[in-house]
Amino acid sequence: MSNPDAIGVLGIVGSPRRGGNTDTLVGELLRGAEAGGARVERVFLSDLNLNPCLGCWTCTRGGKCPQRDDMELLIDKMTRMSTWVLGTPVYFYAATAQLKTFLDRGLCVPKDTYANAKVFSVVTLGDTTPEGASVAVELIERTMKFHGARTIGNLIAHNVLDTGDVREKPALLRAAFEQGTALALNESAAKKLDPSAST
Ligand SMILES: Cc1cc2nc3c(=O)[nH]c(=O)nc-3n(C[C@H](O)[C@H](O)[C@H](O)COP(=O)(O)O)c2cc1C
Repeated sequence: MSNPDAIGVLGIVGSPRRGGNTDTLVGELLRGAEAGGARVERVFLSDLNLNPCLGCWTCTRGGKCPQRDDMELLIDKMTRMSTWVLGTPVYFYAATAQLKTFLDRGLCVPKDTYANAKVFSVVTLGDTTPEGASVAVELIERTMKFHGARTIGNLIAHNVLDTGDVREKPALLRAAFEQGTALALNESAAKKLDPSAST
């Protein structure tokens, strides 16, 4: 039975390819986190009904987002799981539309949910060098910092194009697993030092 006091790690996959490179790496991080004692959960943004932000500012002016879609379900998960692993492939120099929609809709996530959150990003790309990941990494990290979340690192996988390419990189898979375990253990240690910290 899962321990309700365990650290919660939520994987948010922005690639539409289930079993693709991003999903595989996020999955390894989650497996590692679970091995470190965390509760883990994964969501695929492309499975959700998430509409683009309307830019009405209702949510920032004390109101509720007028859109009744799966953002409410996501906010619930984000509030229950304090470590988020955000994954996206590079799509034309940036992130997927799914990930960008999620980031824009993040305007309506309560501030204290962000204040409790730590964010690790995973970015994959076909290019033979990692530089092309920088816009996606910055997009995620700047957006999260804007909202008050803490960014705690990133993992970039370059030279992965087809589904399964990342499976040919055992060192990277191991690094993702170990990173996941470290996330869980570090957060558990921090929580022990500060018992008032939320999960
Ligand atoms: C529409 C589209 C645009 C892409 N743009 C880039 C790009 O600008 N730079 C790059 O290196 N790879 C680009 N790629 C390749 C993906 O980043 C690469 O295939 C990645 O591994 C896909 O991750 P996934 O398996 O998680 O879906 C693009 C792929 C698609 C489908």
